[in-house]
Amino acid sequence: MPRETKLAQDDINSSAIFQLSNDTEFAFVLETVLSLSNNRGAATAEVLRAASQITPGDFESWYNEFLYLGNAIHAKAAAIDSSRFPVSAREAYFRSSTYYRYAPFFLHANASDPRINTLGALAVDDFNRAAALLPLPAENIDLPASSPNIPGGDFYVPARFFKAQQGNAKLPTIIVGTGYDAAHEDIYHEIGVEILERGWNVITFEGPGQPTVLRDENLGFIPDWWNVVSPVVDYLETRPDVDMDHVALAGVSFGGELIPLAASREHRLSAVLAIDGMSSLYELFEAGFSATNITDLYDDGDYAKFDEEIWALEYDSSETSLRWMLAQSLFTFNTDSPSDWWSRLPAFTVNATMLANISCPVFIGEGENDSSAPGQAEEMVKAIGKNATYNLFRTDVGAGEHCQIGAEAQLAQVAWDWLADTWDHVRLPTNLTNVVA
Ligand SMILES: *[C@@H]1O[C@H](CO)[C@@H](O)[C@H](O)[C@H]1NC(C)=O
Ligand SMILES: *[C@@H]1O[C@H](CO)[C@@H](O)[C@H](O)[C@H]1NC(C)=O
Ligand SMILES: *[C@@H]1O[C@H](CO)[C@@H](O)[C@H](O)[C@H]1NC(C)=O
Ligand SMILES: *[C@@H]1O[C@H](CO)[C@@H](O)[C@H](O)[C@H]1NC(C)=O
Ligand SMILES: *[C@@H]1O[C@H](CO)[C@@H](O)[C@H](O)[C@H]1NC(C)=O
Ligand SMILES: *[C@@H]1O[C@H](CO)[C@@H](O)[C@H](O)[C@H]1NC(C)=O
Ligand SMILES: *[C@@H]1O[C@H](CO)[C@@H](O)[C@H](O)[C@H]1NC(C)=O
Repeated sequence: MPRETKLAQDDINSSAIFQLSNDTEFAFVLETVLSLSNNRGAATAEVLRAASQITPGDFESWYNEFLYLGNAIHAKAAAIDSSRFPVSAREAYFRSSTYYRYAPFFLHANASDPRINTLGALAVDDFNRAAALLPLPAENIDLPASSPNIPGGDFYVPARFFKAQQGNAKLPTIIVGTGYDAAHEDIYHEIGVEILERGWNVITFEGPGQPTVLRDENLGFIPDWWNVVSPVVDYLETRPDVDMDHVALAGVSFGGELIPLAASREHRLSAVLAIDGMSSLYELFEAGFSATNITDLYDDGDYAKFDEEIWALEYDSSETSLRWMLAQSLFTFNTDSPSDWWSRLPAFTVNATMLANISCPVFIGEGENDSSAPGQAEEMVKAIGKNATYNLFRTDVGAGEHCQIGAEAQLAQVAWDWLADTWDHVRLPTNLTNVVA
């Protein structure tokens, strides 16, 4: 096609989000699911077919199509003799897990909808079936934890350890945590596989507010995230195959705020990665509400009216992204009350004093056209100073979205090569037996 025509079309389709649905939020989450194909958590045609069947803006339609796909791929997996064909069974279970996980994604406005927990549990079951069929099977561990922000104090942190090599050679190990919505099963595909391929162990985990802890322990987000991460580090200390001098902590999406929070008090880490850097979700929401007077209602103490206005947006807005985000906020804070959520959110802010308390090198990423959490990475870099490394991921090569969705290979190259350089006194392990066949 003539170059002028092509340029004109590029201008029209200038969004960094690839449009898989007429509904922009559906398009974004569909792209997230599709991106898991890069590391075998989905298959492109399966996701594109589901996308073609989903009615834009219709949450039940989304649920039905992903349930259908999850059931269909699960049935294929279950029909496989997994002792004869472990690779086939494993790959199918990884994908059915993803489709089950995403089926109830838009149902969180009603936290007591039983489909949320039913599908969440099916997704974890299928993931575990798949992970047990890896050449080095993953290990599930529930780690004891406690926090003054938890009723009764005690809870546990579900974690999954993926070994990079057979035997007990002490290897660098990356702790990876998720954010406002994704499960740690997602993290394995988004980040974990790429790390294992580089010869390092991976441990994924979830804390309060994240899917398994919400489902099994009924606990919403807590700001003292070091009380979630430190039990994971304690656990690594008990393992013979972990090199405690080379333990890094990485967080994705809202994890880009939770992980620096944790690292401000957990000092056994030798590197921290915020993918991408986020210092205050509260400020992002405030900016989002700035065209309205909603936050004035809260500041004036009119909590009942504040709640009404937020509920009105959550249920009546024509914008799927707003409806989803507000529903997700109440769901993950485990509350019915918008003013309760709003009162708790500022405590998660990572300020300059806390950032200065991080005692190791910090990698801070940013997507050039991050539409979910723009603009906070650079101020974090300034607050950390010399120990910060900043990387802007570019839209012109497809890496400009929130958390580099869809460009996992570029993220991995930049982040893990940075980490290797940071650890350059480590002789990287040779003679690898990757868990990825
Ligand atoms: C992406 O970010 C660049 C740099 O800030 C900006 O010039 C461009 O307009 C943005 N594109 C979109 C689609 O938002
Ligand atoms: C998206 O859907 C709306 C409402 O059905 C319709 O008016 C609009 O033309 C559609 N846009 C595209 C690009 O299909
Ligand atoms: C939420 O879901 C439960 C269980 O399906 C149902 O009984 C209840 O009516 C729903 N609530 C709302 C507000 O839709
Ligand atoms: C800095 O770290 C120390 C040791 O963990 C902790 O006691 C202190 O509260 C931290 N300060 C900040 C501002 O995070
Ligand atoms: C916000 O409040 C100001 C003064 O109280 C009023 O003038 C303005 O119209 C309000 N804006 C909206 C969007 O309600
Ligand atoms: C940052 O937060 C910590 C803990 O809440 C507080 O002690 C400190 O004074 C704050 N620093 C700034 C610069 O606001
Ligand atoms: C930078 O990190 C080193 C460890 O790599 C630590 O000793 C030092 O205190 C940190 N500096 C600052 C300013 O945080």
